[in-house]
Amino acid sequence: MKPVKVGICGLGTVGSGTFNVLNRNQDIIAARVGHPVIIEQVAVRHDNHACDTSGTMVTRDIFDITRNPDIDIVVELIGGYETAKELILSAIEQGKHVVTANKALIAEHGNEIFKAAKKHNVLVAYEAAVAGGIPIIKCLREGLAANRIHSLAGIINGTGNYILTEMGDKQRPFSDVLKEAQTLGYAESDPTFDIEGIDACHKLTIMASIAFGIPLQFNQAYTEGISLITPLDIQYAEELGYRIKHLGIARRQEKGIEIRVHPALIPASKPMANINGVLNAIVVNSDALGQTLYTGPGAGSEATASSVIADIMDIARTTQSPEAAVPALGHIDEVPRFSEPVVPIEQIKTRYYLRIHAENHPDRMNAMTDILSTYGINVTAISQKSVANKEQYADIVIETGRFNEAVINRAIDSIESLTGVQAPVTRIRIETTDSE
Ligand code: HSE
Repeated sequence: MKPVKVGICGLGTVGSGTFNVLNRNQDIIAARVGHPVIIEQVAVRHDNHACDTSGTMVTRDIFDITRNPDIDIVVELIGGYETAKELILSAIEQGKHVVTANKALIAEHGNEIFKAAKKHNVLVAYEAAVAGGIPIIKCLREGLAANRIHSLAGIINGTGNYILTEMGDKQRPFSDVLKEAQTLGYAESDPTFDIEGIDACHKLTIMASIAFGIPLQFNQAYTEGISLITPLDIQYAEELGYRIKHLGIARRQEKGIEIRVHPALIPASKPMANINGVLNAIVVNSDALGQTLYTGPGAGSEATASSVIADIMDIARTTQSPEAAVPALGHIDEVPRFSEPVVPIEQIKTRYYLRIHAENHPDRMNAMTDILSTYGINVTAISQKSVANKEQYADIVIETGRFNEAVINRAIDSIESLTGVQAPVTRIRIETTDSE
């Protein structure tokens, strides 16, 4: 049995997990693939103490991996854009298959990368790019291939979920929890990608492309982060029977496809509301299967390595006939051709939680409900909360019915112009994660 030879570029959190698990589980991997899968060479910038590379060829130059004629599969785990893209395109041109965990690169340059791979008859696999260890790409692309997908909603950033969980459960400050997530290896090298929803949006862009057969369109998606969520909002949401989660939602509606990442209140009884810590989860609503939920570790060394190695194994089984493999985005065209537009955020319809910080005044609440009713917005719950150590102020918390976002925005502008109201009004969307 001729071995399949792998070259790993980068031995950081995911790279070292991949190195260790691939070596540790060699026997079962060979039995499942039909060939031994061996690490021929690794490229690392610095000495690495998380792996014992003593029996492996090591280089400092990642391009040595793409030049090595013995290597069949190049595993890109360096992250980032420019160099990673150059590395992948160079591997493809050398006729090598590629496995990557680089969601930013796939979401933003995947259309070009998959076209190049098709031209050179090689495979590019990226399971680890979305939701770490959860095999969601395989589920969407293969397990659900017979279904029309109505919508999907996911907690797809472990760092963000970890921060919201710790803030809610232990009243820990945001910056403290973020530091801890960085130490644990969950956060991106630039953690604004986690906090501002960019990382989640990369992952959502990829899932939306597979689910709805549209090209990868990161620039059309809407992104809002969690940095403005306060422990007070988490508490008020709990009092109303909700949990706050950072959600990525892709949904087909009459005007096209919604692709949006933002914090959301979810009814506490929903499984998604109870996905905590670094766990990720994705709910998929589809016509034949109905609703399914996939959950597991969304980040971490060996958890993410599990997906990287599954991709290596898939490719190792088909190295001789790559044309027989499942297409990268699940559609026969390397860039799916359906051209439904991405719906602008102002055109979505959902329910809203509003928190308005205002001077205490007996007429204030009436003035706000009058404004909402002028815009035809019904209020399903309203309450006034006193503010600790600030008797002259109150928080008015409002839950609305389902409305168009443009209408809510206009109503919020009018509320912000009321005397005694402190702008900005906090506005968080309320979602059920069902197909609605
Ligand atoms: N920073 C990412 C997260 C890592 O926290 O989910 C996994 O993609």
